[in-house]
Amino acid sequence: MVLTGKTKLYGVIGNPVKHSLSPVFQNAGFSLLGIDAVYLPFEVPKEGFEETVRGLLLLENLKGFNITVPFKESIIQFADWVSEDVSQIGSANTLKKTPEGKVELHNTDWVGFIKALSELVDPKGKKVLVLGAGGTARAVVYALKKVQSEVYIWNRTPQKAQKLAETFGVNWTENLDRVGEFDVIVNTTSVGLKENDPPLFDYNKIEPHQVVYDVIYRETPLVRAARQRGAKADNGLKMLLYQGVESFKIWTGKEPPVDEMWKALREAFERSSQSR
Ligand code: ATR
Repeated sequence: MVLTGKTKLYGVIGNPVKHSLSPVFQNAGFSLLGIDAVYLPFEVPKEGFEETVRGLLLLENLKGFNITVPFKESIIQFADWVSEDVSQIGSANTLKKTPEGKVELHNTDWVGFIKALSELVDPKGKKVLVLGAGGTARAVVYALKKVQSEVYIWNRTPQKAQKLAETFGVNWTENLDRVGEFDVIVNTTSVGLKENDPPLFDYNKIEPHQVVYDVIYRETPLVRAARQRGAKADNGLKMLLYQGVESFKIWTGKEPPVDEMWKALREAFERSSQSR
């Protein structure tokens, strides 16, 4: 690949972002379609966020970027236009600079989630328990409502579950005694990021008819227990893929080579898991 002054620049801003897997599959997509563009991780200092974004937006060849933790809400101040999804969810993960230099913000997390979940089950009409009430939960609840699931939110801090449920007009629950009653369980909390995190509930209660989706990329104890008990379960790597695929479409207007992007992502994930 020859990089020139005409090469378009994309990336992901976040903190931390050094271990992001997005560059691997976004660059695979550009390269396979012969698009003259590169995608890089930009680790943005929390205290210098606004100056950094202002500077990035001035770069002529920078055409867009993804936004990850902790900037998904604070990016909104830079928007000339936000999608309906961004205004409902309250956060954005995709920025596009239009040819006129205007800043458009989109949220593709919810699409990524629903596409990944739909590979396991058709969520329409299903009774779904969402664990957590943070930023990711907002996108997940928004997505589930869109596809007409019956949503229940549980959170360690119940007031936040109640607030989120009221915002989206769904249910909330204060205890996890009857997890077996749900068709689908989605973990959006950070529990499972570390192997020895205390479990959210007794995973032996998972029934074979249930579906479990964990937004965390690694194979968490929750996902492992669900599979061992005969339930369908997956981690968040597919959600990462599909949110990125939607961003790619927004930036390029082209149909991305999803299978090859998935292969690149899976291989990079396996390499990174081995080196840890
Ligand atoms: P994100 O953007 O990834 O959703 P967040 O907005 O910080 O991150 O939300 C983190 C979620 O994980 C919250 O629902 C949080 O629960 P609280 O609202 O009670 O803080 C949840 N969480 C984090 N650590 C947890 C733990 N040890 N047990 C249960 N829930 C936990």
